[in-house]
Amino acid sequence: MQTQLLRQPRVAPSILSSDFAHLSDQVGDVMDAGARVIHCDVMDGHFVPPITLGPLIVGSLADQVHGAGGILDVHLMIERPEHQIAEFAKAGADMITVHWEATPHVHYALKAVRETGCMAGLALTPATPADVIADVLDEVDNLLCMTVNPGWGGQEFIEHSIPKLQRLRELLPEGVPLEVDGGIDATTAPRCRQAGATLFVAGSAVFGTPDPGKSYQEIADAIGG
Ligand code: DX5
Ligand code: ZN
Repeated sequence: MQTQLLRQPRVAPSILSSDFAHLSDQVGDVMDAGARVIHCDVMDGHFVPPITLGPLIVGSLADQVHGAGGILDVHLMIERPEHQIAEFAKAGADMITVHWEATPHVHYALKAVRETGCMAGLALTPATPADVIADVLDEVDNLLCMTVNPGWGGQEFIEHSIPKLQRLRELLPEGVPLEVDGGIDATTAPRCRQAGATLFVAGSAVFGTPDPGKSYQEIADAIGG
């Protein structure tokens, strides 16, 4: 079920920009509008300066998201993510994404994610060249290309991401989702789609607007999702 969901282009609303006092309602709004991938940004105050959320919040959404046929896409912006994988899997994550830059043991970390039964995602920050993925391609179920520097919502899309996405698409085996994250809205999403992206994280362009369900729908329409 999980991998099938990602076979077609999808918008993944990022709860980072949501109103945490009404988190469940906010997630309900976007799922009612059709969202089936909910993106959770975990930050540790080391890999990136902010501290955000952990397994407790992921776990609090699991029944709601799974009950509506959705998946939890957990983006770990934390150092040595391999030490935390079991906790997030236990909390109900369906996909766990680790950063290339956050551990010397990327291959091990990706394998550790798969061993929990979750999909294994690999994320690259804007400064990391696309070609580094060559030796871990067999371990990757999803490739996340950061289109801003990780750490904050509401930043401007980095233009160099477009040729980088094209290169990543060339390197990735067919069918592996290519996720973009940062500065994604109804204008940048179709450009990334053109360059080969299939999964579109949107935080402020969804939850930073008065009607998150409608904003979700506008981006989904823009990518044909
Ligand atoms: C930033 C996070 C993103 C963030 C994107 O480091 O990884 O998922 O929520 O926010 P927007 O869509 O506002 O750029
Ligand atoms: Zn993210």
